[in-house]
Order: sequence, then structure tokens, then C-alpha cells
Amino acid sequence: MNIILLGAPGAGKGTQAVRISEKYKIPHISTGDIFRKNIKEGTPVGLKAKAYIDKGQLVPDEVVVEIVENRLKEKDCKNGYLLDGFPRTLAQAEALSKITDIDAVINLDIDLKLLADRLTGRRICRDCGESYHISSFSGSECTKCGGEIYQRDDDNIETVNSRLTVYENQTKPLIEYYSSKNVLKNIDGGQDIDKVFEDIVKTL
Ligand code: AP5
Ligand code: MG
Repeated sequence: MNIILLGAPGAGKGTQAVRISEKYKIPHISTGDIFRKNIKEGTPVGLKAKAYIDKGQLVPDEVVVEIVENRLKEKDCKNGYLLDGFPRTLAQAEALSKITDIDAVINLDIDLKLLADRLTGRRICRDCGESYHISSFSGSECTKCGGEIYQRDDDNIETVNSRLTVYENQTKPLIEYYSSKNVLKNIDGGQDIDKVFEDIVKTL
């Protein structure tokens, strides 16, 4: 099954992706994670992406499309995959449609007003990618794998506001795009994490 997870910054894409990927045994491909890994390793792609990510803007389409195209050619994608954070523009969606077929687009629908708090309070495991929130978690080690907990550089309020504006202008039109292709599944992303996952499993 080839799946896209669509949703605003902080809608819960990463949180649900870890669970979907485990249940359906398909690789979780997050373009944001790929960029953060490249930034950490100081690669040319990482250096280029950092300038955009720090400002909460999108990395240019051609850079992202090439990365995803290469990633989808890897062996582990042959029985399906889960895209998290890609596509994010109509141009990316058009490019993707020339590379592969998509079975389902899960849109995590949520009131944007809730997201600044979710994002500025988010903490993440460096090893397994599990997301936590400071309202319910204050540890320095991941409860799932023992990995180190960190805060993303782009989870400060200025960058978050700019990411939300970029979402409204550039990514939200994809809801209509995939709806017109009859593959869109709307899920209420404002429910608790387990309920969101339950609804995703039902719809898949
Ligand atoms: P990316 O890493 O994709 O970030 P994003 O889209 O801004 O989304 P987030 O990862 O912030 O949110 P999420 O939906 O995964 O939420 P999470 O599950 O963690 O991209 C980063 C940057 O890279 C972009 O700004 C851009 O510059 C660049 N980039 C990436 N892809 C690109 C592309 N295709 N084209 C161009 N540029 C690209 O949850 C958030 C918090 O909420 C956590 O604390 C979590 O515990 C909590 N939470 C989750 N679900 C719930 C729930 N149901 N109830 C309560 N709390 C919840
Ligand atoms: Mg994420």
C-alpha cells in the first residue's frame, strides 16, 4: 500500500507515521527527517535545506522531488511505503504522480489554532522518532527505546508561525487536489493519539 500522510505542521503526521509503519510493515519516509539527517551530517543537501528550514520556508521542489524519487527506488519500498511531509506543493504532487501510484491520502484535519502549542512543546526521540509533548512528558530518555530526547530548531514560535502560513498557502490546496482524485481520507486529528490511529486503521 502506497500512502501519503497530509496535514499541517504539528497535525500529528510523525506520531501516526511511526504507528502506521509498524502495523503495516512499510517504510516511513519523512522528507523533514531526511533533511534533518543531512543537516546533522553537513552534506551539501543539508546545507542548502537548512537555510529554508530555519526560516520555516519550503525547500525548493526540485531538491525534494529528486530525494523522494531516489528513496522510492530502494528495495524496502517495493511492497509499499508511507510518505510523511511529501508532497507539500501542487508541483510536488504532479511530479509524484509521474513516479508512482498512490492508494490513499490520509489528511489529518485539525484546528490550526491548536498547533503552535503542540509544536513549541514538542520533544522528539533522536533514535526512533517518537514524539512527546512537555504537557505529559518531562524525561530526557525515550520511553520506547531509551534514545536521547531533543527539541527541533524550527519549533520556536517565529518559525512555527511562518510554517503555518506556508502550509495555508502552499500545502492546503493538496486537500482539494487529492479529493478530486478520490483518494482522500479525512481523519479528525484533534482527537487523542490512539483514537486518531484507530480511525486511520479503520479507513485503510
Ligand atoms: P517536517 O519535518 O515535515 O515538519 P512539519 O510538516 O512542519 O510537521 P511536523 O513534523 O512539525 O509535525 P507532525 O505533523 O509530524 O507532528 P507530530 O506528530 O510531531 O518538515 C520540516 C521542514 O522541512 C519544513 O518546514 C520544510 O522547510 C522542510 N520540508 C520537509 N518536507 C518538505 C517538502 N516536501 N518540500 C519542501 N520542504 C520540505 O506532533 C506534534 C506534537 O503534537 C508532538 O508533541 C506530539 O506529541 C503532539 N501530538 C501529536 N498528535 C497528537 C494528538 N492527537 N493529540 C495531542 N497531541 C498530539
Ligand atoms: Mg513530523
